[in-house]
Amino acid sequence: MVSKRTEELLKWDGDHILHCLYFVGQNFGVAPFEEAQGVMIKGIDGKEYIDTASQLINVNLGHNRKDIAEVVKAQVDKMMFTATLRGWANVPSIEYGQKLAQVVPKGLGNFLFTMTGADAVDCAFKIANLYYKVKGERRYKILSLFNSYHGTLRGTGGASGVLKGACGECPPCGDHIHIPNYFCYRCPLHKEYPGCGIECAEFLDYVIENEGKDNVLCFIAEPEQGAGGFISPPPGYFPRVREICSKHGVVFIADEVMTGFGRTGKMFAVEHWDVTPDIMTMSKGIVSGYLPFGAVAISDEILNTLRGQFFAPGSTECGNPICCAVASKVLDIYREEHIVEHGAEVGKQVRERLEREFLPLPHVGSVSGLGLMLGLDIVVDKKTKAIPGPEVTNLVIRRALEQGLYLRMVGNRIGFSPPLVITQEETNETLDRLYPIVAELKLS
Ligand SMILES: Cc1ncc(COP(=O)(O)O)c(C=O)c1O
Repeated sequence: MVSKRTEELLKWDGDHILHCLYFVGQNFGVAPFEEAQGVMIKGIDGKEYIDTASQLINVNLGHNRKDIAEVVKAQVDKMMFTATLRGWANVPSIEYGQKLAQVVPKGLGNFLFTMTGADAVDCAFKIANLYYKVKGERRYKILSLFNSYHGTLRGTGGASGVLKGACGECPPCGDHIHIPNYFCYRCPLHKEYPGCGIECAEFLDYVIENEGKDNVLCFIAEPEQGAGGFISPPPGYFPRVREICSKHGVVFIADEVMTGFGRTGKMFAVEHWDVTPDIMTMSKGIVSGYLPFGAVAISDEILNTLRGQFFAPGSTECGNPICCAVASKVLDIYREEHIVEHGAEVGKQVRERLEREFLPLPHVGSVSGLGLMLGLDIVVDKKTKAIPGPEVTNLVIRRALEQGLYLRMVGNRIGFSPPLVITQEETNETLDRLYPIVAELKLS
Protein backbone atom coordinates (compact mmCIF):
# COMPACT_ATOMS: atom_id res chain seq x y z
CA MET A 1 0.00 0.00 0.00
CA VAL A 2 1.54 3.30 -1.15
CA SER A 3 1.09 6.18 1.33
CA LYS A 4 -0.50 9.45 0.25
CA ARG A 5 2.75 11.35 0.91
CA THR A 6 4.78 8.91 -1.24
CA GLU A 7 2.23 9.26 -4.01
CA GLU A 8 2.28 13.06 -3.83
CA LEU A 9 6.06 13.32 -3.82
CA LEU A 10 6.41 10.93 -6.74
CA LYS A 11 3.79 12.83 -8.71
CA TRP A 12 5.44 16.21 -8.15
CA ASP A 13 8.81 14.72 -9.03
CA GLY A 14 7.48 13.20 -12.25
CA ASP A 15 5.72 16.41 -13.22
CA HIS A 16 8.47 18.93 -12.42
CA ILE A 17 11.90 17.35 -12.04
CA LEU A 18 13.98 16.41 -15.06
CA HIS A 19 15.93 13.19 -14.53
CA CYS A 20 19.22 12.87 -16.41
CA LEU A 21 19.25 9.74 -18.62
CA TYR A 22 15.50 9.14 -18.12
CA PHE A 23 12.23 10.14 -19.76
CA VAL A 24 10.75 13.62 -19.29
CA GLY A 25 7.60 13.60 -17.17
CA GLN A 26 8.42 10.22 -15.60
CA ASN A 27 10.28 8.61 -12.78
CA PHE A 28 10.97 5.02 -11.81
CA GLY A 29 7.99 5.00 -9.43
CA VAL A 30 9.88 3.78 -6.37
CA ALA A 31 9.33 5.65 -3.07
CA PRO A 32 11.92 8.47 -2.83
CA PHE A 33 14.95 7.71 -0.70
CA GLU A 34 15.27 9.56 2.55
CA GLU A 35 17.90 7.91 4.74
CA ALA A 36 21.05 5.89 4.25
CA GLN A 37 23.69 4.24 6.36
CA GLY A 38 26.66 2.09 5.38
CA VAL A 39 25.55 -0.12 2.49
CA MET A 40 21.83 0.42 3.20
CA ILE A 41 19.43 2.98 1.75
CA LYS A 42 15.88 3.55 2.95
CA GLY A 43 12.82 4.86 1.13
CA ILE A 44 10.26 7.26 2.57
CA ASP A 45 7.94 4.24 2.86
CA GLY A 46 10.39 2.61 5.30
CA LYS A 47 11.60 -0.08 2.89
CA GLU A 48 15.32 -0.80 3.07
CA TYR A 49 17.61 -1.87 0.26
CA ILE A 50 21.21 -3.04 0.02
CA ASP A 51 22.92 -0.57 -2.29
CA THR A 52 24.60 -3.08 -4.61
CA ALA A 53 25.63 -0.29 -6.99
CA SER A 54 27.12 2.35 -4.64
CA GLN A 55 24.47 4.54 -6.29
CA LEU A 56 26.32 5.67 -9.42
CA ILE A 57 29.44 3.73 -8.45
CA ASN A 58 30.52 6.73 -6.43
CA VAL A 59 29.66 5.99 -2.79
CA ASN A 60 32.81 3.91 -2.30
CA LEU A 61 33.05 4.44 1.46
CA GLY A 62 29.38 3.77 2.16
CA HIS A 63 26.65 6.16 3.19
CA ASN A 64 26.63 8.74 5.96
CA ARG A 65 29.97 8.53 7.71
CA LYS A 66 29.99 10.88 10.68
CA ASP A 67 33.72 11.58 10.35
CA ILE A 68 33.22 13.00 6.84
CA ALA A 69 30.22 15.05 7.98
CA GLU A 70 32.43 16.54 10.71
CA VAL A 71 35.02 17.59 8.12
CA VAL A 72 32.31 19.40 6.13
CA LYS A 73 31.16 21.26 9.24
CA ALA A 74 34.71 22.15 10.31
CA GLN A 75 35.57 23.53 6.86
CA VAL A 76 32.33 25.53 6.64
CA ASP A 77 33.06 26.97 10.08
CA LYS A 78 36.63 27.90 9.12
CA MET A 79 36.34 29.10 5.51
CA MET A 80 33.59 27.87 3.25
CA PHE A 81 34.73 29.52 0.04
CA THR A 82 37.56 31.41 -1.49
CA ALA A 83 38.34 31.14 -5.19
CA THR A 84 41.25 29.60 -7.03
CA LEU A 85 40.40 31.33 -10.32
CA ARG A 86 42.59 34.18 -11.53
CA GLY A 87 45.61 33.02 -9.61
CA TRP A 88 44.23 33.06 -6.05
CA ALA A 89 45.13 30.16 -3.79
CA ASN A 90 43.48 28.47 -0.82
CA VAL A 91 45.02 26.09 1.69
CA PRO A 92 42.62 23.10 1.36
CA SER A 93 43.19 22.81 -2.41
CA ILE A 94 46.98 22.96 -2.06
CA GLU A 95 47.03 20.44 0.80
CA TYR A 96 44.72 18.12 -1.11
CA GLY A 97 46.81 18.41 -4.28
CA GLN A 98 49.93 17.46 -2.33
CA LYS A 99 48.16 14.39 -0.95
CA LEU A 100 46.68 13.36 -4.30
CA ALA A 101 50.11 13.64 -5.93
CA GLN A 102 51.28 10.82 -3.64
CA VAL A 103 48.76 8.32 -5.01
CA VAL A 104 48.34 9.09 -8.73
CA PRO A 105 50.74 7.39 -11.16
CA LYS A 106 54.21 8.95 -11.07
CA GLY A 107 54.58 12.07 -13.21
CA LEU A 108 50.88 13.02 -13.02
CA GLY A 109 51.03 15.17 -9.89
CA ASN A 110 49.64 18.37 -11.48
CA PHE A 111 45.93 19.11 -11.12
CA LEU A 112 42.95 21.10 -12.20
CA PHE A 113 40.04 20.64 -9.78
CA THR A 114 36.54 20.43 -11.24
CA MET A 115 32.98 19.77 -10.11
CA THR A 116 31.93 16.63 -11.98
CA GLY A 117 33.34 13.84 -14.11
CA ALA A 118 32.12 15.32 -17.38
CA ASP A 119 33.53 18.67 -16.38
CA ALA A 120 36.91 16.97 -15.83
CA VAL A 121 36.78 15.23 -19.22
CA ASP A 122 35.76 18.40 -21.02
CA CYS A 123 38.65 20.28 -19.41
CA ALA A 124 40.99 17.41 -20.37
CA PHE A 125 40.09 17.93 -24.05
CA LYS A 126 40.73 21.66 -23.74
CA ILE A 127 44.08 21.06 -22.06
CA ALA A 128 45.07 18.76 -24.93
CA ASN A 129 44.01 21.49 -27.40
CA LEU A 130 46.11 24.07 -25.63
CA TYR A 131 49.08 21.70 -25.37
CA TYR A 132 49.21 21.28 -29.15
CA LYS A 133 48.50 24.95 -29.78
CA VAL A 134 51.61 25.85 -27.78
CA LYS A 135 53.56 23.31 -29.82
CA GLY A 136 52.35 25.06 -32.97
CA GLU A 137 49.87 22.34 -33.98
CA ARG A 138 46.09 22.60 -34.41
CA ARG A 139 44.77 19.14 -33.61
CA TYR A 140 41.07 18.57 -33.11
CA LYS A 141 39.92 14.97 -33.74
CA ILE A 142 38.93 13.13 -30.57
CA LEU A 143 39.12 9.33 -30.73
CA SER A 144 37.11 7.24 -28.29
CA LEU A 145 35.50 3.82 -28.04
CA PHE A 146 32.07 2.55 -28.93
CA ASN A 147 30.13 1.61 -25.79
CA SER A 148 32.09 4.22 -23.81
CA TYR A 149 30.72 6.87 -21.44
CA HIS A 150 32.38 10.17 -20.60
CA GLY A 151 29.43 12.31 -19.46
CA THR A 152 26.62 14.27 -21.07
CA LEU A 153 28.18 17.69 -21.77
CA ARG A 154 28.47 18.68 -25.42
CA GLY A 155 32.06 17.58 -25.85
CA THR A 156 31.88 14.56 -23.58
CA GLY A 157 28.51 13.44 -24.92
CA GLY A 158 30.08 13.35 -28.37
CA ALA A 159 32.89 11.16 -27.14
CA SER A 160 30.49 8.76 -25.40
CA GLY A 161 29.70 5.79 -27.62
CA VAL A 162 26.64 4.82 -25.58
CA LEU A 163 25.02 8.23 -26.15
CA LYS A 164 25.26 8.11 -29.93
CA GLY A 165 21.95 9.41 -31.23
CA ALA A 166 20.55 10.11 -27.75
CA CYS A 167 21.27 13.84 -27.88
CA GLY A 168 19.60 14.55 -31.22
CA GLU A 169 18.36 18.02 -30.31
CA CYS A 170 21.64 19.11 -28.78
CA PRO A 171 24.23 17.96 -31.27
CA PRO A 172 27.64 17.36 -29.73
CA CYS A 173 30.76 19.14 -30.88
CA GLY A 174 32.07 17.65 -34.11
CA ASP A 175 35.27 15.76 -34.72
CA HIS A 176 34.51 12.72 -32.59
CA ILE A 177 35.53 9.39 -34.06
CA HIS A 178 34.61 6.11 -32.40
CA ILE A 179 36.54 2.89 -32.81
CA PRO A 180 35.66 -0.68 -31.78
CA ASN A 181 35.83 -1.23 -28.04
CA TYR A 182 37.51 -4.08 -26.21
CA PHE A 183 34.93 -6.74 -25.27
CA CYS A 184 36.25 -10.25 -25.62
CA TYR A 185 32.90 -11.98 -24.94
CA ARG A 186 31.24 -10.03 -27.75
CA CYS A 187 34.24 -9.03 -29.82
CA PRO A 188 33.17 -6.33 -32.30
CA LEU A 189 35.85 -7.64 -34.68
CA HIS A 190 34.69 -11.26 -34.29
CA LYS A 191 38.09 -12.39 -33.07
CA GLU A 192 39.14 -14.52 -30.15
CA TYR A 193 41.63 -13.57 -27.47
CA PRO A 194 44.59 -14.16 -27.32
CA GLY A 195 44.90 -15.35 -30.94
CA CYS A 196 43.47 -11.98 -32.07
CA GLY A 197 46.73 -10.15 -31.30
CA ILE A 198 44.50 -7.56 -29.59
CA GLU A 199 43.33 -6.25 -32.90
CA CYS A 200 41.02 -3.73 -31.19
CA ALA A 201 44.15 -1.92 -29.96
CA GLU A 202 45.83 -2.22 -33.38
CA PHE A 203 42.71 -0.61 -34.85
CA LEU A 204 43.67 2.58 -33.01
CA ASP A 205 46.99 2.66 -34.84
CA TYR A 206 45.21 2.20 -38.16
CA VAL A 207 42.68 4.95 -37.46
CA ILE A 208 45.31 7.46 -36.33
CA GLU A 209 47.35 6.76 -39.49
CA ASN A 210 44.29 7.20 -41.68
CA GLU A 211 42.76 10.22 -39.95
CA GLY A 212 46.16 11.88 -40.17
CA LYS A 213 48.15 11.80 -36.99
CA ASP A 214 48.68 15.58 -37.17
CA ASN A 215 44.92 16.02 -36.78
CA VAL A 216 44.32 13.64 -33.90
CA LEU A 217 44.10 15.45 -30.59
CA CYS A 218 43.70 12.55 -28.21
CA PHE A 219 42.47 9.06 -27.53
CA ILE A 220 40.22 8.78 -24.48
CA ALA A 221 39.13 5.48 -22.88
CA GLU A 222 37.86 4.11 -19.62
CA PRO A 223 40.28 1.51 -18.20
CA GLU A 224 37.16 -0.62 -17.61
CA GLN A 225 33.99 0.38 -19.45
CA GLY A 226 31.51 1.40 -16.77
CA ALA A 227 28.19 2.68 -18.07
CA GLY A 228 28.66 0.27 -20.97
CA GLY A 229 28.34 -2.67 -18.57
CA PHE A 230 31.51 -3.28 -16.49
CA ILE A 231 33.69 -4.65 -19.25
CA SER A 232 37.42 -4.97 -18.67
CA PRO A 233 40.05 -5.10 -21.42
CA PRO A 234 42.37 -8.01 -22.17
CA PRO A 235 45.68 -7.57 -20.29
CA GLY A 236 47.78 -6.29 -23.22
CA TYR A 237 45.25 -3.72 -24.42
CA PHE A 238 46.33 -0.60 -22.55
CA PRO A 239 50.09 -1.22 -22.78
CA ARG A 240 49.63 -1.39 -26.57
CA VAL A 241 47.41 1.72 -26.58
CA ARG A 242 50.12 3.57 -24.66
CA GLU A 243 52.73 2.55 -27.25
CA ILE A 244 50.52 3.61 -30.16
CA CYS A 245 49.68 7.02 -28.66
CA SER A 246 53.35 7.65 -27.86
CA LYS A 247 54.41 6.62 -31.34
CA HIS A 248 52.05 9.16 -32.93
CA GLY A 249 52.43 11.84 -30.27
CA VAL A 250 48.70 11.61 -29.51
CA VAL A 251 47.59 12.51 -25.97
CA PHE A 252 46.25 9.45 -24.15
CA ILE A 253 43.51 10.31 -21.63
CA ALA A 254 42.55 7.60 -19.14
CA ASP A 255 39.07 8.39 -17.88
CA GLU A 256 39.20 7.07 -14.32
CA VAL A 257 36.03 8.88 -13.25
CA MET A 258 34.39 5.56 -12.33
CA THR A 259 37.38 3.23 -12.01
CA GLY A 260 39.54 5.49 -9.83
CA PHE A 261 39.90 5.25 -6.06
CA GLY A 262 39.90 1.52 -5.58
CA ARG A 263 36.91 0.47 -7.60
CA THR A 264 38.82 -2.12 -9.65
CA GLY A 265 41.03 -3.40 -6.82
CA LYS A 266 43.86 -0.87 -7.38
CA MET A 267 43.86 2.81 -6.46
CA PHE A 268 43.70 3.56 -10.21
CA ALA A 269 42.80 0.95 -12.81
CA VAL A 270 45.75 1.81 -15.10
CA GLU A 271 47.98 0.33 -12.36
CA HIS A 272 46.76 -3.14 -13.38
CA TRP A 273 48.91 -2.83 -16.50
CA ASP A 274 51.54 -0.40 -15.26
CA VAL A 275 50.49 2.20 -17.80
CA THR A 276 50.78 5.97 -17.28
CA PRO A 277 48.45 8.14 -19.34
CA ASP A 278 49.25 11.74 -20.30
CA ILE A 279 46.04 12.97 -18.66
CA MET A 280 43.83 11.22 -16.12
CA THR A 281 40.30 12.33 -15.20
CA MET A 282 38.77 11.57 -11.79
CA SER A 283 35.51 12.15 -9.91
CA LYS A 284 32.99 9.88 -8.10
CA GLY A 285 35.16 7.97 -5.58
CA ILE A 286 37.35 11.05 -5.13
CA VAL A 287 34.76 12.30 -2.61
CA SER A 288 32.78 9.08 -2.30
CA GLY A 289 29.59 10.91 -3.22
CA TYR A 290 29.68 13.29 -0.25
CA LEU A 291 29.93 16.38 -2.49
CA PRO A 292 30.28 17.13 -6.20
CA PHE A 293 33.97 17.16 -7.13
CA GLY A 294 36.45 16.01 -9.76
CA ALA A 295 40.02 16.45 -10.90
CA VAL A 296 42.18 16.36 -14.01
CA ALA A 297 45.74 15.13 -13.51
CA ILE A 298 48.22 16.16 -16.20
CA SER A 299 51.72 14.96 -16.93
CA ASP A 300 54.84 16.96 -16.10
CA GLU A 301 55.50 17.18 -19.84
CA ILE A 302 52.12 18.80 -20.54
CA LEU A 303 52.44 21.12 -17.55
CA ASN A 304 55.92 22.22 -18.59
CA THR A 305 54.74 22.87 -22.13
CA LEU A 306 51.86 25.00 -20.85
CA ARG A 307 53.91 27.01 -18.35
CA GLY A 308 53.31 30.75 -18.78
CA GLN A 309 50.25 30.29 -21.03
CA PHE A 310 46.94 31.90 -20.19
CA PHE A 311 44.74 28.99 -19.10
CA ALA A 312 40.94 29.20 -19.41
CA PRO A 313 39.45 25.77 -18.48
CA GLY A 314 37.66 25.63 -15.13
CA SER A 315 34.80 27.26 -13.25
CA THR A 316 33.85 29.25 -10.14
CA GLU A 317 33.93 26.07 -8.08
CA CYS A 318 37.46 24.92 -9.02
CA GLY A 319 39.25 24.09 -5.78
CA ASN A 320 36.16 24.66 -3.61
CA PRO A 321 37.61 24.43 -0.07
CA ILE A 322 34.82 22.25 1.33
CA CYS A 323 35.14 19.74 -1.53
CA CYS A 324 38.93 19.70 -1.19
CA ALA A 325 38.70 19.13 2.56
CA VAL A 326 36.28 16.25 2.02
CA ALA A 327 38.44 14.76 -0.76
CA SER A 328 41.39 14.97 1.60
CA LYS A 329 39.55 13.14 4.39
CA VAL A 330 38.26 10.55 1.92
CA LEU A 331 41.80 9.88 0.70
CA ASP A 332 42.98 9.48 4.31
CA ILE A 333 40.24 6.91 4.86
CA TYR A 334 41.20 4.96 1.72
CA ARG A 335 44.74 4.71 3.00
CA GLU A 336 44.24 4.30 6.75
CA GLU A 337 41.43 1.76 6.48
CA HIS A 338 43.03 -0.17 3.59
CA ILE A 339 39.83 0.24 1.59
CA VAL A 340 41.40 -0.61 -1.76
CA GLU A 341 42.87 -3.88 -0.47
CA HIS A 342 39.59 -4.79 1.22
CA GLY A 343 37.59 -4.11 -1.96
CA ALA A 344 40.06 -6.19 -3.99
CA GLU A 345 39.74 -9.13 -1.58
CA VAL A 346 35.94 -9.02 -1.44
CA GLY A 347 35.85 -8.62 -5.23
CA LYS A 348 37.94 -11.78 -5.62
CA GLN A 349 35.54 -13.78 -3.51
CA VAL A 350 32.48 -12.38 -5.30
CA ARG A 351 33.99 -13.21 -8.66
CA GLU A 352 34.65 -16.80 -7.55
CA ARG A 353 31.03 -17.13 -6.44
CA LEU A 354 29.70 -15.56 -9.64
CA GLU A 355 31.76 -17.98 -11.72
CA ARG A 356 30.96 -21.03 -9.61
CA GLU A 357 27.23 -20.47 -8.99
CA PHE A 358 25.90 -17.92 -11.50
CA LEU A 359 27.85 -18.74 -14.67
CA PRO A 360 26.40 -22.28 -15.01
CA LEU A 361 22.85 -20.82 -15.02
CA PRO A 362 21.13 -21.05 -18.42
CA HIS A 363 20.90 -17.30 -18.98
CA VAL A 364 24.30 -16.13 -17.73
CA GLY A 365 26.67 -15.79 -20.68
CA SER A 366 29.74 -14.37 -18.98
CA VAL A 367 31.18 -12.81 -15.85
CA SER A 368 33.37 -9.77 -16.40
CA GLY A 369 35.15 -6.93 -14.67
CA LEU A 370 37.79 -6.19 -12.07
CA GLY A 371 37.69 -5.64 -8.31
CA LEU A 372 34.22 -4.62 -7.18
CA MET A 373 33.12 -3.53 -10.65
CA LEU A 374 31.75 -6.87 -11.84
CA GLY A 375 29.18 -7.65 -14.51
CA LEU A 376 26.96 -10.53 -15.59
CA ASP A 377 25.97 -10.78 -19.25
CA ILE A 378 22.38 -12.02 -19.43
CA VAL A 379 21.62 -13.93 -22.64
CA VAL A 380 18.54 -15.57 -24.08
CA ASP A 381 20.66 -18.48 -25.21
CA LYS A 382 24.30 -19.22 -24.44
CA LYS A 383 25.07 -20.44 -27.95
CA THR A 384 23.72 -17.45 -29.86
CA LYS A 385 24.48 -14.95 -27.03
CA ALA A 386 21.21 -13.23 -28.03
CA ILE A 387 20.41 -10.22 -25.85
CA PRO A 388 16.99 -10.10 -24.15
CA GLY A 389 14.75 -7.05 -24.57
CA PRO A 390 14.42 -4.07 -22.19
CA GLU A 391 11.42 -5.70 -20.47
CA VAL A 392 13.87 -8.20 -18.94
CA THR A 393 16.03 -5.37 -17.56
CA ASN A 394 12.96 -3.83 -16.00
CA LEU A 395 11.80 -7.18 -14.60
CA VAL A 396 15.15 -7.95 -12.99
CA ILE A 397 15.41 -4.49 -11.41
CA ARG A 398 11.82 -4.72 -10.05
CA ARG A 399 12.34 -8.23 -8.67
CA ALA A 400 15.56 -7.09 -7.03
CA LEU A 401 13.73 -4.17 -5.41
CA GLU A 402 11.14 -6.61 -4.03
CA GLN A 403 14.03 -8.55 -2.49
CA GLY A 404 15.52 -5.40 -0.94
CA LEU A 405 18.28 -4.93 -3.52
CA TYR A 406 19.02 -1.62 -5.23
CA LEU A 407 20.50 -3.10 -8.40
CA ARG A 408 22.21 -1.61 -11.45
CA MET A 409 21.29 -3.28 -14.71
CA VAL A 410 22.14 -1.55 -17.98
CA GLY A 411 20.74 -3.28 -21.05
CA ASN A 412 21.41 -6.98 -20.59
CA ARG A 413 24.21 -6.49 -18.07
CA ILE A 414 23.72 -6.83 -14.33
CA GLY A 415 26.31 -4.88 -12.36
CA PHE A 416 27.74 -5.62 -8.95
CA SER A 417 29.53 -2.57 -7.52
CA PRO A 418 28.63 -2.11 -3.85
CA PRO A 419 30.47 0.28 -1.55
CA LEU A 420 34.06 -0.93 -1.19
CA VAL A 421 33.50 -1.19 2.58
CA ILE A 422 30.91 -3.95 2.17
CA THR A 423 31.55 -6.91 4.47
CA GLN A 424 31.78 -10.51 3.36
CA GLU A 425 28.53 -11.20 5.21
CA GLU A 426 26.68 -8.38 3.44
CA THR A 427 28.12 -9.56 0.14
CA ASN A 428 26.90 -13.10 0.67
CA GLU A 429 23.47 -11.81 1.66
CA THR A 430 23.34 -9.76 -1.57
CA LEU A 431 24.34 -12.71 -3.77
CA ASP A 432 21.91 -15.02 -1.92
CA ARG A 433 19.07 -12.63 -2.76
CA LEU A 434 20.22 -12.12 -6.35
CA TYR A 435 20.74 -15.80 -7.21
CA PRO A 436 17.07 -16.89 -7.39
CA ILE A 437 16.19 -13.81 -9.46
CA VAL A 438 18.74 -14.81 -12.12
CA ALA A 439 18.11 -18.56 -11.76
CA GLU A 440 14.37 -18.19 -12.26
CA LEU A 441 14.65 -16.13 -15.45
CA LYS A 442 12.71 -17.73 -18.29
CA LEU A 443 13.83 -16.29 -21.61
CA SER A 444 13.26 -17.53 -25.10
C1 LIG B 1 34.02 7.11 -17.08
C2 LIG B 1 33.10 8.27 -16.83
N1 LIG B 1 33.46 9.48 -17.26
C3 LIG B 1 32.69 10.57 -17.05
C4 LIG B 1 31.49 10.44 -16.39
C5 LIG B 1 30.65 11.66 -16.16
O1 LIG B 1 30.70 12.03 -14.83
P1 LIG B 1 29.58 13.00 -14.24
O2 LIG B 1 28.30 12.25 -14.25
O3 LIG B 1 30.05 13.31 -12.85
O4 LIG B 1 29.56 14.20 -15.10
C6 LIG B 1 31.08 9.21 -15.91
C7 LIG B 1 29.81 9.05 -15.20
O5 LIG B 1 29.32 7.99 -14.96
C8 LIG B 1 31.91 8.08 -16.14
O6 LIG B 1 31.56 6.86 -15.73
